[in-house]
Amino acid sequence: MSSRFETFTPLSGANFGGLARLPGKTDAHRFIQAAESEPETLPRALAEFQGLMLLRGMDAIAQEPSLLVRLSRIFGPEVENYRHTLTPLNMVHETVPEIFVVSNTPPVGRQPPRRPEPPLTEDGKLPTRFPHRRGWHTDQSYRRPPPDISLFFAVIPVPQGQGQTLFANGTAAYEALPPALKARVDGLEGLHVSLSAKRSRDEVLAGVTPRPLLPHEQPQRQPVVRVHPVTGRRALYLCEYGQMDWLEGPFVGMRPGPDGDGAELLAELMSHLTRPEFIYVHEWTPGDLIVWDNRCLVHAATWFDAANEMRLMWRTTVSGNPGAAYAGESKSWIAA
Ligand SMILES: [Fe+2]
Repeated sequence: MSSRFETFTPLSGANFGGLARLPGKTDAHRFIQAAESEPETLPRALAEFQGLMLLRGMDAIAQEPSLLVRLSRIFGPEVENYRHTLTPLNMVHETVPEIFVVSNTPPVGRQPPRRPEPPLTEDGKLPTRFPHRRGWHTDQSYRRPPPDISLFFAVIPVPQGQGQTLFANGTAAYEALPPALKARVDGLEGLHVSLSAKRSRDEVLAGVTPRPLLPHEQPQRQPVVRVHPVTGRRALYLCEYGQMDWLEGPFVGMRPGPDGDGAELLAELMSHLTRPEFIYVHEWTPGDLIVWDNRCLVHAATWFDAANEMRLMWRTTVSGNPGAAYAGESKSWIAA
């Protein structure tokens, strides 16, 4: 059966990613209904796009948030219910608990990332490369098994030129690694931990006393090179200052801490992974929705003027197909 969807790849300004749409006027109801009637099309397109899919004109989701959950279910068996996973309730949508709310306004009150210093590159562009750009991560990598896919919907984005979301293609970056570095990272494990554990690079450098962690908060080992369960392709799987364990990591079996050889390797890998040819920058307009694959992409948020702008975004997280490396594991983040 042929598909009703049209796809376009790559996304503007990038070497990967793609847009999916239906012919005619876009409407989220019609789009999601069509996606449900041919449930393999969008997941297949996501894999073809190397893990990044843009949908435009999904405005109706803002009035009917359960549509976002319906769309999420197309991408995997399990859509996280944030009321069941120790998430602070002020960050969970009131009536649809599968929606994690990202906003600088109450009751969430989440502040944007710091502005890079200097704010622009020498040629006047938005800095995207690590370490000028910081905050690169893949969602919830401090969990085993980690999630597969995130959906992020712009209810109220900030004006273009700020509050962008940046994506880096871990598959292309891995494939472009020099052979010696590839050999070094194959089989290596990173040690990931939530920011709430206070083991970030900044906190370790500041000498913050580590707090005891409960069993379900423990740092988790993750392969630095993940084999994608759908495509079979290998991708770099890494975070940087905020979501690696800088006390005992960032890598298992290497000298730990900000001055260790693990830190040096992480900087080299992150700088490579965020090279311009692996990046897509998304400028948000209301009604945009991005689906990304956390198994093969990392992403970062950029600064916005939170004193004068309001931003309201909704995220869902889909899991259930992390790959053979996690077969049979129980969820590390659920308190016993
Ligand atoms: Fe994220």
